[in-house]
Amino acid sequence: MTLLDTALTRQLGIELPLVCGAMYPCSNPELVGAVSRAGGIGVIQPLTLTYVHGLDFRAGVRRVRALAGDRPMGMNALIEQSSRVYRKRMARWVDVALEEGVRFFVTSLGNPRWVVDAVAPAGAVVYHDVTERKWALKARDGGVHGLIAVNERAGGHAGAKSARALLEELADLGLPVLCAGGIGDAPDFVVALRMGYAGVQMGTRFIATDECAAHEAYKHAIVAAKAEDIVLTERVTGVPLAVIRTPLVERVGTTVGPLGRLLLRGRRTKRWARAWYAVRSAWRLKRSNLRGDTTRDYWQAGKSVAGVSAVEPVAAVVARFRVAALASGG
Ligand SMILES: Cc1cc2nc3c(=O)[nH]c(=O)nc-3n(C[C@H](O)[C@H](O)[C@H](O)COP(=O)(O)O)c2cc1C
Repeated sequence: MTLLDTALTRQLGIELPLVCGAMYPCSNPELVGAVSRAGGIGVIQPLTLTYVHGLDFRAGVRRVRALAGDRPMGMNALIEQSSRVYRKRMARWVDVALEEGVRFFVTSLGNPRWVVDAVAPAGAVVYHDVTERKWALKARDGGVHGLIAVNERAGGHAGAKSARALLEELADLGLPVLCAGGIGDAPDFVVALRMGYAGVQMGTRFIATDECAAHEAYKHAIVAAKAEDIVLTERVTGVPLAVIRTPLVERVGTTVGPLGRLLLRGRRTKRWARAWYAVRSAWRLKRSNLRGDTTRDYWQAGKSVAGVSAVEPVAAVVARFRVAALASGG
């Protein structure tokens, strides 16, 4: 048995316990497909396929599957109940993904039970993103097959705890746990597996690859950044989001103004304020991904930038992780 043989690799039939996490707006089909083809598993982000790349969802899934060489792939289902229309559309996308052979679902925000009920009968596996035990218990009660522990170093909406503290909190729940956040290079991967994680979910590292369609300036900013250059801003989505400190961030700060704060916290206004931020951030991040202007755009990244030293092909990154895990023994 090697470090690469974990509950995750057995559940999904993949070679490495390595997930390329869903990234709005960075999960273009070529990136997702390349990670699956290399022996890990790429996760489709539905809004990226449809809104950023203008694909019909089913056609997009088929494209990823072809790029993956028919290897397993996943789909991200954001299950927050902020809008009924959105929830219905997500349910439709889950059904289409199932029909197209997707057997791995990553849920975040909200109660994952409806996704489990929809996909488990087909033999699919659901992992839920969590930042603390409270949400993990809810997810376990919802029937998920594994947890993704999103720590304080993660890109996207980071957690508040260290990788070790989170694993300790979640270890007794009887579910495999993946480490999300802080994995920039192969030694970090090995450390996470040795700590007891059943695998890792990485985002930032995969933006700095040839296959990712993000602007070159964004990729090079990830390579150049140090962990201290990552800050949390509320100004994009209304809740703390990890971004690179660019001239834009320096200029506008990282907190929302008094009116935004009032609307985001008010009992009656909270739902609408969040929906407004969600729509505006989708538009804004799509533009940021393609334009590469540090004075106007937000570039999301986690503290794992510390381990990223070059823009490389996905296969080279995955191969290095594989070799390091095998060299470090079982
Ligand atoms: C640019 C970017 C966009 C992200 N978008 C999403 C998303 O749409 N859905 C989601 O569940 N997680 C999202 N994440 C979180 C990642 O799936 C993953 O958990 C995280 O990137 C791990 O931390 P790392 O960036 O340090 O590797 C995003 C992360 C980044 C960097």
